[in-house]
Amino acid sequence: MLIFTTRIANWLEDGLQLSVVREVVFINEQQVPVELEWDEFDIDCVHALAVDSDGKPIGTARCLPNGHIGRMAVLKEWRGKGVGRALLYRLIEEIRNQHTQQATLNAQTYAIGFYRKFGFQVVGKEFMDAGIPHVQMVLRL
Ligand SMILES: CC(C)(COP(=O)(O)OP(=O)(O)OC[C@H]1O[C@@H](n2cnc3c(N)ncnc32)[C@H](O)[C@@H]1OP(=O)(O)O)[C@@H](O)C(=O)NCCC(=O)NCCS
Repeated sequence: MLIFTTRIANWLEDGLQLSVVREVVFINEQQVPVELEWDEFDIDCVHALAVDSDGKPIGTARCLPNGHIGRMAVLKEWRGKGVGRALLYRLIEEIRNQHTQQATLNAQTYAIGFYRKFGFQVVGKEFMDAGIPHVQMVLRL
């Protein structure tokens, strides 16, 4: 059985582990330009980190102070096993605890169905970001 755990993380202590997953998924797999992947917001975000039974990082996501979720990434070999779900629940719980009225995110269009499972709804029109089609989605809390 594949075992993983998730926890809340922060950039100062866990930045290396968080970066490893994002580099593999966004920069290597999805060809997102390096200069678009790294920004000044990571330091202010609440991050969620998933690790395997050896402590190796396998998934990440982050949430800005305004309730905007992003950088949701699970290593290819771990997809379809509930890691993304566990990470997203962690961040939604964090946003609820901060009494923020809504969670927002920009979903790659292929992942709309994933976010709908959590109650997110599409708002607005499709747009391009880093060469990938996206839509904005909102979850009222
Ligand atoms: C999108 C992503 C984070 C999903 O993570 P995951 O660990 O594979 O998702 P889970 O296994 O937790 O899936 C939870 C549920 O969503 C469903 N699901 C997963 N990806 C889906 C997709 N692209 N479209 C529709 N449903 C999806 C699963 O079937 C599962 O359904 P169930 O509850 O009925 O069993 C992952 O595919 C990923 O990292 N993709 C590459 C990076 C990326 O594109 N990130 C940005 C997305 S905006």
